[in-house]
Amino acid sequence: MIRPRRNRKSAAVRRLARETVITTNDVVYPLFLTQGKGIKDEINSLPGNYRWSPDRILAEIDECMNLGLHSFMIFPKIKNEQKDKMATYSYAQENYYLKCISEIKKRFPEACLISDVAMDPYSTDGHDGIVRDGRILNDETVEVLIKMSIAQAEAGFDILGPSDMMDGRVGAMRDALDAHGHTEVSIMSYTAKYASAFYGPFREALDSAPVDDPNIPKDKKTYQMDPANKREALIEADLDAAEGADFLMVKPALHYMDIIQQLKENYAQPIAAYHVSGECAMLIAACQNGWLDYNTAMPETLLSLKRAGTDVIITYFAKDFAKMKKEGWLS
Ligand code: PBG
Repeated sequence: MIRPRRNRKSAAVRRLARETVITTNDVVYPLFLTQGKGIKDEINSLPGNYRWSPDRILAEIDECMNLGLHSFMIFPKIKNEQKDKMATYSYAQENYYLKCISEIKKRFPEACLISDVAMDPYSTDGHDGIVRDGRILNDETVEVLIKMSIAQAEAGFDILGPSDMMDGRVGAMRDALDAHGHTEVSIMSYTAKYASAFYGPFREALDSAPVDDPNIPKDKKTYQMDPANKREALIEADLDAAEGADFLMVKPALHYMDIIQQLKENYAQPIAAYHVSGECAMLIAACQNGWLDYNTAMPETLLSLKRAGTDVIITYFAKDFAKMKKEGWLS
């Protein structure tokens, strides 16, 4: 009789039969930066995650590096008085985020630093692009993104992460980076980024949500993808691959595993998935209520993303996962 249970009979046999293994090499840790000194400010809707001031983020990265976690995605909180309609602070000489990145890169040259290329943290409108007459302009926004990209490359980022969903931005960024001598700076494109309800805690962390104003669109549905669409992700991926993206990303992750699998089957580029703030917050809340066990539910969640085809998992659980791995809790 064929008995599939034989391959599950002991931990050693299960290890031999195991199809998917996740390691600390597979995860990227998103971190939030804020201006000031000595600040470690917990994000209300994302417990265990903080806005760090530049001095404190160095110590946090040091701790992560010691856990074998080497890749970080860093997002800046910008003060209201530094915001404007054109997001000019995003590439300004005095930009504290860019200065901090140079500092991190100097201290930890072996770390991989991934940026966020989008206007929303710097925009008084809270949109990823320029708003005019109630519409988000595409090509004019790409011009701003190019300036932001050059400034970020100069600051020392290893990989740029355009999260804005404007058409044509990957090719435009690639050309501009190359023309400025940044041929080695990579692009991790937010290829299939959906207009999702799961970005709430992130927007709280950065105070970057679309503003409440009758002249400003309330949501990002004219540029981020419709959650109902799967084949459309292939159009975005074709373009990003042709325009030179080094990594293709799906975002959110858990609710979009079919998209992850589809891109994995169709493209040779590494596939990243952004396990977004709302998806992580759900699990944190259930664990805080005693309804789920964090030490088993969290690694199972990351494993499921890897099994679906994710090569690079961007998750707020990256540090805890690295800790568990290092301390040998996970086999
Ligand atoms: C900004 C950006 C967002 C996220 C990453 N980059 C928010 C948005 O598009 O509104 C969300 C990440 C998360 O929820 O963890 N363009």
